[in-house]
Order: sequence, then structure tokens, then C-alpha cells
Amino acid sequence: MLEMLVDHETVCTDPVPASEAAAEVQNLNLYYGAKQALFHINTRFAAKKVTAIIGPSGCGKSTLLRSLNRMNDLVPGVRVENKVLYEGVNIYDPQIDPVTVRRHIGMVFQKPNPFPKTIFENVAFGLRLMGTKGSELEDRVVEALKRAALWNEVADRFKNEIGLRLSGGQQQRLCIARAIAVEPPLLLMDEPTSALDPIATQAIEDLILELKNRYTVVIVTHNMQQAARISDRTLFMHLGILVEEGPTSLIFTKPQHPYTEAYITGRFG
Ligand SMILES: Nc1ncnc2c1ncn2[C@@H]1O[C@H](COP(=O)(O)OP(=O)(O)OP(=O)(O)O)[C@@H](O)[C@H]1O
Ligand SMILES: [Mg+2]
Repeated sequence: MLEMLVDHETVCTDPVPASEAAAEVQNLNLYYGAKQALFHINTRFAAKKVTAIIGPSGCGKSTLLRSLNRMNDLVPGVRVENKVLYEGVNIYDPQIDPVTVRRHIGMVFQKPNPFPKTIFENVAFGLRLMGTKGSELEDRVVEALKRAALWNEVADRFKNEIGLRLSGGQQQRLCIARAIAVEPPLLLMDEPTSALDPIATQAIEDLILELKNRYTVVIVTHNMQQAARISDRTLFMHLGILVEEGPTSLIFTKPQHPYTEAYITGRFG
């Protein structure tokens, strides 16, 4: 099956014009040691839209997402070929500092990873790096906790409770608050609602729809109803290959590739 797809050219309906792209991936290959995990990925992520990445477990969704802000650099033995352009600049250019890239391109990870600090300090972290202080800092922390639908549960203890002592779903919302506090122009979210109950999930979906008025969001999700509800465009991956992309409404109603159709109708994956 892999052989069938290696030379596959992505089926792309209504491609995003370069002028409307916040980021562009050009012929990206990624290897974990000797194992290739991404094959010739070409795509553009539309600015101020929500793009969903879907596909079976292990197909490379998280790997593609992490390659958009050089988070894979932190994995030993990773090698990346070719380009990811952000605002027209190749973020893999040797002159580019990955720490700066990650400041512009925020991320919510598949597994929540709060710092071993208080709830307040978790959310304040990036704001402090940007020089925010005093009452403005406090206001922005509270605002981010509210937008991430966590405030009501932590209002009485956010200054002294350690983030790691929250429940899994609360930690996930804490990490969402931390990511949005600095208002990153491009926000990458890896299954941000996988540990959340329906009410918190709804709040985060509302947040994502609100964020796209100002920012670009790329979200990995296993939940196809969620992709259909919140995304403008959808990418379908399989075995490290970008099989098909297009407007979400078309991907879910008239998929062009037989693998996309099989996946969205629940016949594999
Ligand atoms: N740190 C790593 N070291 C080695 N191989 C890895 C690493 N991370 C991912 N891989 C491999 O790369 C491939 C893609 O993994 P990735 O985590 O991107 O998949 P995914 O689509 O996000 O899956 P899931 O839906 O289960 O989260 C898999 O074969 C995986 O084993
Ligand atoms: Mg993943």
C-alpha cells in the first residue's frame, strides 16, 4: 500500500493561493533516524482560517504539526529536508533561531505538559518573556484562563496551586491558556480536546472559532465531527503522505481519493 502512495501527488481541491497563506510547506521530508515519517508534503495553510489534519493513528499528523514550529528539532536523530515558509521565510534556514520560531508559532501538545510551577506562572511564562508585568500581566493571565474555560475551576487557587496537580483535562486547558496568552499569530493544536468533557470541548471549539478572526489555527483531531464543525480546510494523511486536502465541506461530502472516502466513512483507520 505504501508503494502505491510514495509517488502520490496530493489531491488538492481549491488550493490556497500563496497570497492567502500564513505558512507553506514545500516538499517536506522528515526522518526519525533511518525511518521516514513524512513524504514530500506540499501544502499551504490559509491565514485566519482553521485547518484540520485528520488520518489514522501513526500517519504523521503530530509530526507534520511539530515540523511547522521546529518542535521536532528537540527529538534526537531527526532530519528534515526542504522548506517550511512562515511569512515567506524558511524556518529551517540555518540562520533562523528555533526559539524565535516557537515564540511566533504557539503549540498545544497532544499530552499536556504544564511546567512544575503554579497555574499563574504557567500562563504568565511567555508573557514575562515578552516583558509584560504587574497588573497587565495578571489581567492577561486571568483573561487567558477564562478563554480556555478553566477560570471557574481555579479562580480561588491559581496563584498557589501547582499546574501539575490539576486533572488531565484541566491540564490540557491550562496548556491552551498558556499558548493563547501570548496571542501567537499561528497556533498549532494537537488533539486539544481529547481529554475534555463535552462542555469543555464546546468551549474550546468556540474559542478556536473566535481565534480565527485574528489568527491562523492548525488543529490535529481524531474527531471527524469536530473537524467538520470548526475547520475551513481539511488535510487527510495516510502513512506519512498527504493524500488529499481541500475545503472541509468537500472533503466530508465529496472526497476525491478512495482512501479519504474509506477513512471518513469509517471503513479504515
Ligand atoms: N520521537 C519519535 N521517534 C521515532 N519515531 C517517531 C517519533 N515520533 C513519531 N514517530 C513515528 O512517526 C510516525 C508518525 O507519528 P506521529 O506521532 O506523527 O503520528 P500521529 O498521526 O500523530 O498519530 P496519533 O494519531 O496516534 O497521535 C509513527 O510511525 C511514529 O512511530
Ligand atoms: Mg499524534
